[in-house]
Amino acid sequence: MTFTVAIDGPAAAGKGTISKAVAAKFGFAHLDTGLLYRAVGAKAADGVDPITAAQTLNNDDLNRDDLRSLAAGQAASKVAVIPEVRAALVDFQRRFASQDGGAVLDGRDIGTVICPDADVKLFVTASAEVRAHRRWLEVGGDEAQVLAEVRERDDRDMNRADAPLKPADDALLIDTSDLSIEDAIAAAVNAINAAR
Ligand code: CDP
Repeated sequence: MTFTVAIDGPAAAGKGTISKAVAAKFGFAHLDTGLLYRAVGAKAADGVDPITAAQTLNNDDLNRDDLRSLAAGQAASKVAVIPEVRAALVDFQRRFASQDGGAVLDGRDIGTVICPDADVKLFVTASAEVRAHRRWLEVGGDEAQVLAEVRERDDRDMNRADAPLKPADDALLIDTSDLSIEDAIAAAVNAINAAR
């Protein structure tokens, strides 16, 4: 049985938390596609050509312990505008999505480009201030700087020519600005149950 759940949205909207919870609940495999771009960005920051980095990405690259930093997020969004980088990652994501037993993929373009026929599409969002506050709780530092970086990354992700961040026409919008984690997960679970 294949069953694909596509979860897209901007930085720190709650995609990861919702994805992990629904994957655990339904027994689906989960792929955080942002990690692919973060790993390519980190290799590019090390001096590797980003297209080569995307074409040769391996498990060691994905297991680096420096991929969650703000700097890695910025590096990711810079390489993510390069069409050849995105193209190099398509097949891996589609294979993951079509595995037996069901899959949840979270990212920016899953419902629009990678899996336009996904069984369930969610677009998880929240205000920039709420998202920056959440990210600041994770990474610390200066909250105003975190907000500025969140806005800069949103802007780059939404305005790139190739696979910009936007909800698919048939995506269910979940605004987590004023939702508890439990309520956000419940909204996703309900949408999946309705489609099964
Ligand atoms: O965790 P957070 O939402 O902050 O970011 P992420 O999902 O790890 O993604 C990091 C960056 O990778 C994003 O800002 C995008 O530029 C890029 N990305 C993308 O272009 N397409 C995806 N499917 C996933 C991430």
